[in-house]
Amino acid sequence: MKLDDFKLEVYFGKYEFTAPYLLTQSDCESMRVGELLSYEPGAEERLMHSWLGYTEVPGNPELRGLVSGLYKNIKADEILMHTGAQEAIFAYMNVLLEKGDHVISMFPVYQSLYEVAHAEGCQVSPWNLKHTEQGWSIDFNELEALIRPNTKLIAVNTPNNPTGYTFSEEELKHLCSIAEKHGIYIFGDEVYRGLEPDGIKKPWIADLYDKAISLGVLSKAYGLAGLRIGWVATRDKEILNKMTKFKHYLSICNSEPSEFLSIIALKHGDKLLQRSIDIIQGNLKLADQFFARYEHLFQNNRPMSGPIAFHKIKIDQSIEDFCEDLVQKSGVLLLPGSIYSFKGPFFRMGYGRKSFGQCLNIFEQYLIDRKLV
Ligand SMILES: Cc1ncc(COP(=O)(O)O)c(C=O)c1O
Repeated sequence: MKLDDFKLEVYFGKYEFTAPYLLTQSDCESMRVGELLSYEPGAEERLMHSWLGYTEVPGNPELRGLVSGLYKNIKADEILMHTGAQEAIFAYMNVLLEKGDHVISMFPVYQSLYEVAHAEGCQVSPWNLKHTEQGWSIDFNELEALIRPNTKLIAVNTPNNPTGYTFSEEELKHLCSIAEKHGIYIFGDEVYRGLEPDGIKKPWIADLYDKAISLGVLSKAYGLAGLRIGWVATRDKEILNKMTKFKHYLSICNSEPSEFLSIIALKHGDKLLQRSIDIIQGNLKLADQFFARYEHLFQNNRPMSGPIAFHKIKIDQSIEDFCEDLVQKSGVLLLPGSIYSFKGPFFRMGYGRKSFGQCLNIFEQYLIDRKLV
């Protein structure tokens, strides 16, 4: 299998740890180990006694139990833990797809959702999010029109990276009914769940359909990317067994300290999610004021939920050149839409970090210096 470069990671490789003002990150504000441990009396002492041997391949049973508690219809043995979400995407696409299969992928989207399928020799059709004066929208009639006799998988990401588009419960059910009618699998990348105004109560895709799998992770809404703990949930035991065997060739099992800390995180999940929601809400207010000042330059595509949005800027230069000049001259990092192979002057902004206000001020000064505002 020959994979194309992961454009986002290549770009981040250049700037994520050198640019001082990160205004595009998709993970919410993280914390030190000590802060996480402080949520649970006695946890620090227990961490000191963690055993640094191999762990169970499917994941720590207590952790799987806590993860299954997030779902309505998923049991602990229907959860398979992974090292981050990325490993799980790679494993799923490998065990499900074969050369010649047809895959429909929401677009724009996180590259691995279609790139792995493409590298396996599948035909991939984009299901396009449309940009309008009101923001982003998607058309289910278009999805139905894309279905072919050999369509094996529909891959969606909700809340979506990069647009923040989020399916309503009705849309999720509609999606599942279309897939069920044609016997198609659904890959539901739901790594940004937990930040919705209506909370985590909405069903996950795996709750709704037997041939669906839901992807979750602690990296984004919980702000714990460094734990590298993700999971899949599905009632499809055959897929889960195949993924377990595939994991034998990847990470084999998760790190014990990470699993331990993930248990603490999920036991106090509501508080961690609220911490992220509060940061995002504060930052959205600052952004609304910023965009209201400069309506002639931007279209503010406020995210429906999640920590990122894909805004439009009206400039006479390519979005790559704009973002490159911005980071070189001011140190502010934004992601150009071209990273998503998406045409047009769009950039991704991230709302989950405490430094958002400071980064936005520096961005504003850059625009003033360039006489764009
Ligand atoms: C939609 C989506 N899925 C999966 C991932 C991978 O998550 P992780 O870094 O935890 O492996 C990301 C990371 O940005 C993402 O945005």
